[in-house]
Amino acid sequence: MSDPQPVLVDLTDAPAAPCAPQQAKPARDWPPVIIHGETIDREIERLADLPRPANGRRRVMFVHPAAPDPGRGLTPGVQVTLDVLLPGEETVPVRRNATEVNFCIRGGGTAWVGDRRLEFGRYDAWNHPSWQICRQANTGRELQARLTYSNAALLEMMRVNMVEEDPRDDGVAEASEDAGGGSRVALETFTIGEDGAALMPYETLISPPCVPSAALHWPWTTVKENLDRLEALGSDYVGRRLYLLFNPRTDRFNGTTPNFFATLTIRPGGIVDKPHRHVSSAINYYFHGAGYSRVEGKRYEWKAGDLMVSAPGWAVHNHASYEGDPVYELTIQDQPLNIYMESLLWQEDLSLPARILGSQEGFATNRRGV
Ligand SMILES: [Fe+2]
Repeated sequence: MSDPQPVLVDLTDAPAAPCAPQQAKPARDWPPVIIHGETIDREIERLADLPRPANGRRRVMFVHPAAPDPGRGLTPGVQVTLDVLLPGEETVPVRRNATEVNFCIRGGGTAWVGDRRLEFGRYDAWNHPSWQICRQANTGRELQARLTYSNAALLEMMRVNMVEEDPRDDGVAEASEDAGGGSRVALETFTIGEDGAALMPYETLISPPCVPSAALHWPWTTVKENLDRLEALGSDYVGRRLYLLFNPRTDRFNGTTPNFFATLTIRPGGIVDKPHRHVSSAINYYFHGAGYSRVEGKRYEWKAGDLMVSAPGWAVHNHASYEGDPVYELTIQDQPLNIYMESLLWQEDLSLPARILGSQEGFATNRRGV
């Protein structure tokens, strides 16, 4: 058999217009979908009724109908799974090069992430740094259910999603000397011109500055206390009443993981957001209250328990809560990755131009005045 041949695509004088921000319609290829709370409840019951699997993981993945395989995501880069553990059960340890956020939607238990052990309850969130050995146990009396969000969909597309079940070693090679008997040497990266262009030696390329990545825990009771104070901003406030579950490891890239952020939002009854759009795509999990979203002109109703692809990248959207109970929601959005890639076009006001957040000055709210 002959080797695969590359495809040559002649783009001479090809129009740039279909990709212009004002014409792009990515939501047509990847429309919003809702996994209703009833479906999630049914899956929890189905998983709970199965005989205990060998690796302990009772798990289902929610895949967007437009997702490729490999690349099985709910948004193009983010994979979402639902895990169930019965009281007394625990999972076999696993290690992945994906980074994750876990969100407990029922019961509670214990998670071991690297050398950290944390006790979690309903609506707690925590992150899994990459390549740390992780396992979970249901140490409570209730059934435990967790949503896990990871960048595995993106890694699948890149054909490098690495998973090791029950790894026997900690995977960390001896730090002082390498296998070839060499020793570390600090060589200078030096600038070669007036504009900052520099040259970096190979020795730095294979040993970049190493910053430890830690598992962090955001307990719902503490987050909720802080969120509920934002209700006092009143109905004139034009921003979102939320906190980003910030991992300082992600620096100026606004992440819970290097790939995406998780925010927890309170939406008092009767709040209607202003339509806006951003290149980052969003998945919402509503766990209290009810409301609707308008995405590219189409209305979608949602309520507590629903998981929704609420904002395909660059789709014009806004969300609204119905009068009455406040809405609480978890949002996962691949903003940090897009800030890092300098691709995060954001249009906060549709009558004004979009900006590349992280490289250009961002937007403001009326918080000072309310
Ligand atoms: Fe948005």
